[in-house]
Amino acid sequence: MAFVVKVLVCCFLLSGLFGSDEYDAEKIADIFYTLNGDSSDPHKKINHAKGFCATGEFFPNKSLSIDVPLLKKDYINAEVRYSLGGALLDDRSKVRGMALRLLGGDSQWTMVMLNTEINFAKNPQEFGQFFEMRIPVNGKVDTKKIAKLTKEVDSYRNFEAYTSKMGISKLENTSYHSIHTFMFDKGGKFYPARFKFVPKDGIKYLSEDEIANLDKDFLLSTFQSYIAKKPMEYDMYLVYANDNDVINDTTALWEGEHKEEYVGTLKVAKYAGDDCNGDVYFPSDLPLGVNPPNDPLFDLRNTTYGITFGRRQ
Ligand code: HEM
Repeated sequence: MAFVVKVLVCCFLLSGLFGSDEYDAEKIADIFYTLNGDSSDPHKKINHAKGFCATGEFFPNKSLSIDVPLLKKDYINAEVRYSLGGALLDDRSKVRGMALRLLGGDSQWTMVMLNTEINFAKNPQEFGQFFEMRIPVNGKVDTKKIAKLTKEVDSYRNFEAYTSKMGISKLENTSYHSIHTFMFDKGGKFYPARFKFVPKDGIKYLSEDEIANLDKDFLLSTFQSYIAKKPMEYDMYLVYANDNDVINDTTALWEGEHKEEYVGTLKVAKYAGDDCNGDVYFPSDLPLGVNPPNDPLFDLRNTTYGITFGRRQ
Protein backbone atom coordinates (compact mmCIF):
# COMPACT_ATOMS: atom_id res chain seq x y z
CA MET A 1 0.00 0.00 0.00
CA ALA A 2 2.78 2.44 1.03
CA PHE A 3 4.55 1.57 -2.23
CA VAL A 4 1.41 2.35 -4.31
CA VAL A 5 1.03 5.70 -2.53
CA LYS A 6 4.72 6.50 -3.20
CA VAL A 7 4.33 5.64 -6.90
CA LEU A 8 1.21 7.83 -7.18
CA VAL A 9 2.88 10.78 -5.40
CA CYS A 10 5.92 10.36 -7.65
CA CYS A 11 3.78 10.29 -10.84
CA PHE A 12 1.86 13.35 -9.68
CA LEU A 13 5.09 15.28 -8.99
CA LEU A 14 6.62 14.23 -12.31
CA SER A 15 3.53 15.23 -14.28
CA GLY A 16 3.64 18.60 -12.51
CA LEU A 17 7.31 19.03 -13.44
CA PHE A 18 7.12 17.94 -17.06
CA GLY A 19 3.51 18.69 -17.97
CA SER A 20 0.98 16.11 -19.14
CA ASP A 21 1.18 14.27 -22.45
CA GLU A 22 -2.55 13.72 -22.33
CA TYR A 23 -4.60 15.71 -24.83
CA ASP A 24 -7.31 17.06 -22.56
CA ALA A 25 -9.64 19.99 -23.30
CA GLU A 26 -7.25 22.62 -21.82
CA LYS A 27 -4.29 21.31 -23.79
CA ILE A 28 -6.28 21.25 -27.04
CA ALA A 29 -7.57 24.79 -26.39
CA ASP A 30 -3.92 25.85 -25.87
CA ILE A 31 -2.97 24.21 -29.18
CA PHE A 32 -5.73 26.13 -31.01
CA TYR A 33 -4.57 29.41 -29.45
CA THR A 34 -0.92 28.73 -30.34
CA LEU A 35 -1.85 27.84 -33.91
CA ASN A 36 -4.63 30.34 -34.71
CA GLY A 37 -4.48 32.95 -31.91
CA ASP A 38 -4.27 36.62 -32.82
CA SER A 39 -3.24 38.91 -29.95
CA SER A 40 -4.75 41.89 -31.79
CA ASP A 41 -8.17 40.20 -31.66
CA PRO A 42 -8.50 38.07 -28.48
CA HIS A 43 -12.32 38.03 -28.84
CA LYS A 44 -12.25 36.07 -32.12
CA LYS A 45 -13.51 32.48 -32.31
CA ILE A 46 -10.39 30.32 -32.39
CA ASN A 47 -11.59 27.57 -34.73
CA HIS A 48 -14.08 27.93 -37.60
CA ALA A 49 -13.40 31.65 -37.15
CA LYS A 50 -14.80 32.87 -40.46
CA GLY A 51 -18.55 32.66 -40.69
CA PHE A 52 -21.85 34.47 -40.88
CA CYS A 53 -25.31 34.13 -39.42
CA ALA A 54 -28.74 33.42 -40.81
CA THR A 55 -32.22 32.57 -39.55
CA GLY A 56 -35.07 30.46 -40.79
CA GLU A 57 -37.53 27.78 -39.82
CA PHE A 58 -37.54 24.01 -39.51
CA PHE A 59 -40.68 22.11 -40.55
CA PRO A 60 -40.77 18.64 -38.93
CA ASN A 61 -42.14 15.58 -40.73
CA LYS A 62 -45.62 14.92 -39.31
CA SER A 63 -45.26 11.14 -39.35
CA LEU A 64 -41.90 10.68 -37.62
CA SER A 65 -41.27 7.35 -35.92
CA ILE A 66 -38.99 8.80 -33.20
CA ASP A 67 -40.26 10.21 -29.90
CA VAL A 68 -38.75 13.69 -29.80
CA PRO A 69 -41.37 16.13 -28.39
CA LEU A 70 -39.56 19.15 -29.95
CA LEU A 71 -40.35 17.72 -33.39
CA LYS A 72 -44.09 17.57 -32.69
CA LYS A 73 -44.37 21.31 -33.37
CA ASP A 74 -45.70 22.60 -36.70
CA TYR A 75 -42.52 24.61 -37.19
CA ILE A 76 -39.46 25.57 -35.12
CA ASN A 77 -37.44 28.81 -35.31
CA ALA A 78 -33.89 28.16 -36.48
CA GLU A 79 -30.60 30.03 -36.10
CA VAL A 80 -27.76 29.09 -38.43
CA ARG A 81 -24.05 29.86 -38.46
CA TYR A 82 -22.22 28.93 -41.66
CA SER A 83 -18.44 28.69 -41.25
CA LEU A 84 -15.19 27.65 -42.90
CA GLY A 85 -13.14 24.87 -41.25
CA GLY A 86 -10.16 25.66 -39.00
CA ALA A 87 -8.58 29.06 -39.57
CA LEU A 88 -9.47 29.23 -43.27
CA LEU A 89 -10.27 32.71 -44.55
CA ASP A 90 -10.82 31.99 -48.24
CA ASP A 91 -14.22 30.57 -49.25
CA ARG A 92 -12.60 28.83 -52.24
CA SER A 93 -11.82 25.94 -49.87
CA LYS A 94 -13.55 22.64 -49.13
CA VAL A 95 -14.26 22.05 -45.44
CA ARG A 96 -17.31 23.88 -44.10
CA GLY A 97 -19.32 23.94 -40.92
CA MET A 98 -22.94 24.55 -40.09
CA ALA A 99 -24.05 25.23 -36.53
CA LEU A 100 -27.80 25.03 -36.23
CA ARG A 101 -30.00 25.85 -33.26
CA LEU A 102 -33.63 24.75 -33.31
CA LEU A 103 -35.45 26.94 -30.77
CA GLY A 104 -38.68 25.32 -29.70
CA GLY A 105 -39.46 27.50 -26.65
CA ASP A 106 -39.53 24.85 -23.94
CA SER A 107 -36.96 22.68 -25.74
CA GLN A 108 -34.07 23.21 -28.15
CA TRP A 109 -31.50 21.28 -30.19
CA THR A 110 -28.04 22.47 -31.24
CA MET A 111 -26.36 20.61 -34.10
CA VAL A 112 -22.75 21.38 -35.03
CA MET A 113 -21.90 19.72 -38.33
CA LEU A 114 -19.33 19.53 -41.09
CA ASN A 115 -19.82 18.93 -44.82
CA THR A 116 -18.09 15.54 -44.45
CA GLU A 117 -19.52 12.22 -43.20
CA ILE A 118 -16.38 11.51 -41.14
CA ASN A 119 -13.68 13.57 -39.44
CA PHE A 120 -9.90 13.25 -39.25
CA ALA A 121 -9.43 11.96 -35.69
CA LYS A 122 -11.01 9.20 -33.65
CA ASN A 123 -9.64 10.08 -30.21
CA PRO A 124 -8.24 13.07 -28.27
CA GLN A 125 -4.62 12.15 -29.04
CA GLU A 126 -5.19 12.09 -32.82
CA PHE A 127 -7.27 15.26 -32.66
CA GLY A 128 -4.67 17.19 -30.64
CA GLN A 129 -1.75 15.93 -32.72
CA PHE A 130 -3.51 16.88 -35.99
CA PHE A 131 -3.36 20.57 -35.02
CA GLU A 132 -0.21 20.46 -32.90
CA MET A 133 1.92 19.17 -35.80
CA ARG A 134 0.92 22.30 -37.78
CA ILE A 135 2.37 24.71 -35.18
CA PRO A 136 5.57 26.29 -36.60
CA VAL A 137 8.78 25.34 -34.78
CA ASN A 138 11.37 28.16 -34.82
CA GLY A 139 9.16 29.95 -37.33
CA LYS A 140 8.94 26.99 -39.72
CA VAL A 141 6.07 24.56 -40.35
CA ASP A 142 7.44 21.02 -40.33
CA THR A 143 5.87 19.92 -43.62
CA LYS A 144 7.87 16.66 -43.61
CA LYS A 145 6.39 15.64 -40.25
CA ILE A 146 2.88 16.57 -41.43
CA ALA A 147 3.30 14.50 -44.61
CA LYS A 148 4.74 11.53 -42.63
CA LEU A 149 1.96 11.46 -40.04
CA THR A 150 -0.73 12.04 -42.66
CA LYS A 151 0.52 8.88 -44.35
CA GLU A 152 0.98 6.86 -41.16
CA VAL A 153 -2.17 7.67 -39.16
CA ASP A 154 -5.18 5.89 -40.70
CA SER A 155 -7.65 8.60 -39.63
CA TYR A 156 -5.62 11.41 -41.23
CA ARG A 157 -4.94 9.41 -44.41
CA ASN A 158 -8.57 8.36 -44.81
CA PHE A 159 -9.86 11.88 -44.25
CA GLU A 160 -7.43 13.28 -46.80
CA ALA A 161 -8.54 10.64 -49.31
CA TYR A 162 -12.19 11.47 -48.55
CA THR A 163 -11.78 15.25 -49.02
CA SER A 164 -9.68 14.78 -52.15
CA LYS A 165 -12.84 13.43 -53.82
CA MET A 166 -14.84 16.51 -52.82
CA GLY A 167 -15.00 19.79 -54.66
CA ILE A 168 -15.79 23.36 -53.69
CA SER A 169 -19.49 24.15 -53.48
CA LYS A 170 -21.91 26.99 -52.87
CA LEU A 171 -24.04 26.73 -49.71
CA GLU A 172 -27.16 25.69 -51.64
CA ASN A 173 -25.20 22.67 -52.92
CA THR A 174 -23.50 21.60 -49.66
CA SER A 175 -24.67 18.80 -47.35
CA TYR A 176 -23.93 18.75 -43.62
CA HIS A 177 -23.38 15.72 -41.37
CA SER A 178 -23.47 14.92 -37.64
CA ILE A 179 -20.39 12.64 -37.93
CA HIS A 180 -21.11 11.44 -34.37
CA THR A 181 -23.75 8.74 -33.88
CA PHE A 182 -26.59 9.88 -31.59
CA MET A 183 -29.26 7.69 -29.93
CA PHE A 184 -32.94 8.22 -30.81
CA ASP A 185 -35.92 7.22 -28.68
CA LYS A 186 -38.58 5.00 -30.23
CA GLY A 187 -41.08 3.83 -27.62
CA GLY A 188 -38.46 3.86 -24.85
CA LYS A 189 -35.79 1.99 -26.81
CA PHE A 190 -32.85 4.03 -28.16
CA TYR A 191 -31.57 3.46 -31.72
CA PRO A 192 -28.19 4.64 -33.06
CA ALA A 193 -28.27 6.98 -36.05
CA ARG A 194 -26.29 9.77 -37.65
CA PHE A 195 -28.08 12.74 -39.19
CA LYS A 196 -27.52 14.78 -42.32
CA PHE A 197 -28.91 17.86 -44.07
CA VAL A 198 -29.19 17.39 -47.81
CA PRO A 199 -29.63 20.52 -49.98
CA LYS A 200 -32.84 20.53 -52.04
CA ASP A 201 -30.77 21.75 -55.02
CA GLY A 202 -28.52 18.69 -54.77
CA ILE A 203 -24.82 18.37 -53.96
CA LYS A 204 -22.82 20.01 -56.76
CA TYR A 205 -19.23 21.11 -57.10
CA LEU A 206 -18.11 24.23 -58.93
CA SER A 207 -16.01 23.91 -62.09
CA GLU A 208 -12.53 25.45 -62.24
CA ASP A 209 -13.89 28.19 -64.54
CA GLU A 210 -16.69 28.98 -62.09
CA ILE A 211 -14.24 29.12 -59.17
CA ALA A 212 -11.96 31.47 -61.13
CA ASN A 213 -14.83 33.97 -61.26
CA LEU A 214 -15.47 33.87 -57.51
CA ASP A 215 -13.71 35.80 -54.77
CA LYS A 216 -12.65 34.76 -51.27
CA ASP A 217 -16.00 35.92 -49.82
CA PHE A 218 -18.31 34.36 -52.39
CA LEU A 219 -20.28 32.28 -49.89
CA LEU A 220 -21.96 35.31 -48.37
CA SER A 221 -22.60 37.14 -51.65
CA THR A 222 -24.05 34.08 -53.41
CA PHE A 223 -26.10 33.23 -50.29
CA GLN A 224 -27.58 36.73 -50.26
CA SER A 225 -28.53 36.67 -53.94
CA TYR A 226 -30.05 33.18 -53.50
CA ILE A 227 -32.26 34.08 -50.53
CA ALA A 228 -33.36 37.33 -52.22
CA LYS A 229 -35.43 34.98 -54.44
CA LYS A 230 -36.36 32.04 -52.17
CA PRO A 231 -35.24 30.34 -48.93
CA MET A 232 -32.31 27.94 -49.08
CA GLU A 233 -33.71 24.50 -48.20
CA TYR A 234 -32.19 21.37 -46.71
CA ASP A 235 -33.96 18.07 -45.97
CA MET A 236 -32.86 16.45 -42.72
CA TYR A 237 -32.55 12.65 -42.57
CA LEU A 238 -31.65 10.15 -39.87
CA VAL A 239 -29.32 7.46 -41.17
CA TYR A 240 -29.83 4.39 -38.99
CA ALA A 241 -26.80 2.22 -38.18
CA ASN A 242 -26.65 -1.24 -39.71
CA ASP A 243 -25.68 -4.06 -37.31
CA ASN A 244 -22.06 -4.04 -38.52
CA ASP A 245 -21.55 -0.23 -38.43
CA VAL A 246 -19.10 1.21 -35.92
CA ILE A 247 -21.03 3.70 -33.81
CA ASN A 248 -18.33 4.93 -31.42
CA ASP A 249 -15.81 6.16 -34.01
CA THR A 250 -16.24 9.46 -35.87
CA THR A 251 -13.75 8.34 -38.54
CA ALA A 252 -15.77 5.24 -39.49
CA LEU A 253 -17.44 5.63 -42.87
CA TRP A 254 -20.73 3.72 -43.08
CA GLU A 255 -20.65 2.01 -46.46
CA GLY A 256 -23.57 0.63 -48.47
CA GLU A 257 -27.36 0.83 -48.08
CA HIS A 258 -28.85 2.31 -44.91
CA LYS A 259 -32.35 2.82 -43.61
CA GLU A 260 -33.06 6.55 -43.69
CA GLU A 261 -35.91 8.55 -42.17
CA TYR A 262 -36.94 12.02 -43.33
CA VAL A 263 -37.00 14.29 -40.24
CA GLY A 264 -38.08 17.60 -41.74
CA THR A 265 -37.04 20.55 -43.88
CA LEU A 266 -34.88 23.50 -42.88
CA LYS A 267 -35.66 26.73 -44.74
CA VAL A 268 -32.95 29.34 -44.29
CA ALA A 269 -34.58 32.62 -45.24
CA LYS A 270 -32.73 35.63 -43.80
CA TYR A 271 -29.18 36.90 -43.47
CA ALA A 272 -28.52 37.82 -39.82
CA GLY A 273 -25.16 39.61 -39.92
CA ASP A 274 -22.13 38.45 -37.98
CA ASP A 275 -23.17 38.81 -34.33
CA CYS A 276 -23.36 35.03 -33.91
CA ASN A 277 -19.63 34.74 -34.70
CA GLY A 278 -18.91 35.19 -31.00
CA ASP A 279 -21.59 32.72 -29.85
CA VAL A 280 -20.86 29.20 -28.76
CA TYR A 281 -22.75 26.13 -29.97
CA PHE A 282 -22.68 23.08 -27.71
CA PRO A 283 -23.46 19.78 -29.49
CA SER A 284 -24.47 18.43 -26.05
CA ASP A 285 -27.53 20.73 -26.13
CA LEU A 286 -29.99 17.96 -27.02
CA PRO A 287 -33.79 17.73 -26.80
CA LEU A 288 -35.69 15.03 -24.91
CA GLY A 289 -35.64 11.84 -26.97
CA VAL A 290 -32.09 12.32 -28.33
CA ASN A 291 -29.22 10.92 -26.26
CA PRO A 292 -25.53 11.81 -26.70
CA PRO A 293 -23.04 9.72 -28.69
CA ASN A 294 -20.75 7.26 -27.00
CA ASP A 295 -17.39 8.07 -28.63
CA PRO A 296 -14.12 9.39 -27.16
CA LEU A 297 -14.46 12.87 -28.71
CA PHE A 298 -17.95 14.08 -27.84
CA ASP A 299 -17.47 15.11 -24.18
CA LEU A 300 -14.01 16.51 -24.88
CA ARG A 301 -15.47 18.55 -27.72
CA ASN A 302 -18.12 20.14 -25.53
CA THR A 303 -15.66 20.92 -22.72
CA THR A 304 -13.24 22.51 -25.21
CA TYR A 305 -15.98 24.72 -26.71
CA GLY A 306 -16.74 25.97 -23.17
CA ILE A 307 -13.05 26.78 -22.59
CA THR A 308 -12.51 28.64 -25.89
CA PHE A 309 -15.79 30.55 -25.45
CA GLY A 310 -14.63 31.54 -21.94
CA ARG A 311 -11.20 32.64 -23.15
CA ARG A 312 -12.53 35.00 -25.81
CA GLN A 313 -14.76 36.99 -23.39
C1 HEM B 1 -17.09 15.29 -35.26
C2 HEM B 1 -16.46 16.15 -34.58
C3 HEM B 1 -16.49 17.64 -34.80
C4 HEM B 1 -17.23 18.44 -35.65
C5 HEM B 1 -18.28 18.00 -36.65
C6 HEM B 1 -16.86 19.81 -35.39
C7 HEM B 1 -17.38 20.92 -36.02
C8 HEM B 1 -17.22 22.22 -35.61
C9 HEM B 1 -17.90 23.37 -36.14
C10 HEM B 1 -18.93 23.36 -37.26
C11 HEM B 1 -17.49 24.46 -35.44
C12 HEM B 1 -17.97 25.89 -35.62
C13 HEM B 1 -19.18 26.11 -34.76
C14 HEM B 1 -19.63 27.54 -34.87
O1 HEM B 1 -20.21 27.91 -35.90
O2 HEM B 1 -19.38 28.32 -33.93
C15 HEM B 1 -16.52 24.02 -34.48
C16 HEM B 1 -15.87 24.85 -33.61
C17 HEM B 1 -14.89 24.43 -32.78
N1 HEM B 1 -14.40 23.13 -32.68
FE1 HEM B 1 -15.19 21.48 -33.50
N2 HEM B 1 -15.92 19.82 -34.40
C18 HEM B 1 -15.67 18.52 -34.02
C19 HEM B 1 -14.82 18.09 -33.05
C20 HEM B 1 -14.08 18.91 -32.28
C21 HEM B 1 -13.24 18.47 -31.19
C22 HEM B 1 -13.08 17.02 -30.76
C23 HEM B 1 -12.65 19.59 -30.68
C24 HEM B 1 -11.68 19.72 -29.55
C25 HEM B 1 -11.42 18.80 -28.69
C26 HEM B 1 -13.13 20.73 -31.43
C27 HEM B 1 -12.76 22.03 -31.23
C28 HEM B 1 -13.44 23.13 -31.70
C29 HEM B 1 -13.28 24.48 -31.17
C30 HEM B 1 -12.30 24.93 -30.09
C31 HEM B 1 -14.22 25.28 -31.84
C32 HEM B 1 -14.50 26.75 -31.58
C33 HEM B 1 -15.60 26.75 -30.50
C34 HEM B 1 -15.92 28.15 -30.02
O3 HEM B 1 -15.03 28.76 -29.42
O4 HEM B 1 -17.07 28.63 -30.19
N3 HEM B 1 -14.00 20.28 -32.38
N4 HEM B 1 -16.37 22.66 -34.60
